[in-house]
Amino acid sequence: MNGPVVVTLPGQERLAARLAAALSTEMLGVERRRFPDGESYLRIHGECRDRDVVVAATLARPDPIVLPLLLLAHGLRAEGARTVVLAAPYLAYMRQDRQFQSGEVVTSRGFAELLSAAFDGVVTVDPHLHRFHALSEIYRVPTRVAHAAPALAAWIAGNVDKPLIVGPDSESEQWVSEVARLAASPHVVLSKTRRGDREVTIDVPPLDRWLGRTPVLVDDIISTARTMVETVGHLVRAGYPAPVCVGVHAIFADRAHDELQRSGAAEIATADTVAHPTNRIDLSTEVAAAVASLLRERSDSLATAEVMR
Ligand code: R5P
Repeated sequence: MNGPVVVTLPGQERLAARLAAALSTEMLGVERRRFPDGESYLRIHGECRDRDVVVAATLARPDPIVLPLLLLAHGLRAEGARTVVLAAPYLAYMRQDRQFQSGEVVTSRGFAELLSAAFDGVVTVDPHLHRFHALSEIYRVPTRVAHAAPALAAWIAGNVDKPLIVGPDSESEQWVSEVARLAASPHVVLSKTRRGDREVTIDVPPLDRWLGRTPVLVDDIISTARTMVETVGHLVRAGYPAPVCVGVHAIFADRAHDELQRSGAAEIATADTVAHPTNRIDLSTEVAAAVASLLRERSDSLATAEVMR
């Protein structure tokens, strides 16, 4: 049997090519066009029979891409793929993780069901786990999580003189403290209250002892950027130099990037889980290692099942 192959949908070729290079493997082409009625036509170019196929697709702004991805996974199986795993550096629909009001759909669970039915495994980078503690609570297939903290810490250590790592809220404590440890920097964690999709307030404790350091705001997702904009404002008013903003997933809804640039941030650096002009931190090696680990587990379990037959 041949080694794994990477496929993607048009528009995500750069992400897929980086992953294929990190896995030292090849890509198969997928053609997609729309029928006049808006439905997708998909065609797989190349041989995937008996091969492990890695579908590389980040899921920022997921709704237009998810149905074609599910159909692609179905098509790959029909073409004889042995295993079909999804490598989604940004995993969508992780934030509605409970009902806050009656009747609300807990989309994290529904989305996990859809992906678990289509793929043999899911790989991602630092999913937004808040009330769920692990993907296995909602995904029925094996998952692997690549962690951005070491690469973020290396970027900070190499680019910021005397950093002070700042986490926006108590949820961020665990991994912000890890970034700080790896970057050999002190850290503080602030307190955030979200009052709406685009409204947050940040409480900043006295930070006088760190004056003279450059604040580096670190967050997993930059979406509306309100969290970072508010925090930059507090720190600048407190007499700190212009902060550096570091995020894992560069969602940047609407004008969020402009607003963060105008807020007084010195620099904005993100990992490459979502393609964006601020991408500075390459995580393809970490994602490839997680994919390889998942494929090994899958291969072992298929071999065991074969022996048992
Ligand atoms: C929230 O819990 C996350 O960790 C981020 O702080 C949040 O997603 C940032 O959102 P925004 O950029 O919209 O303030």
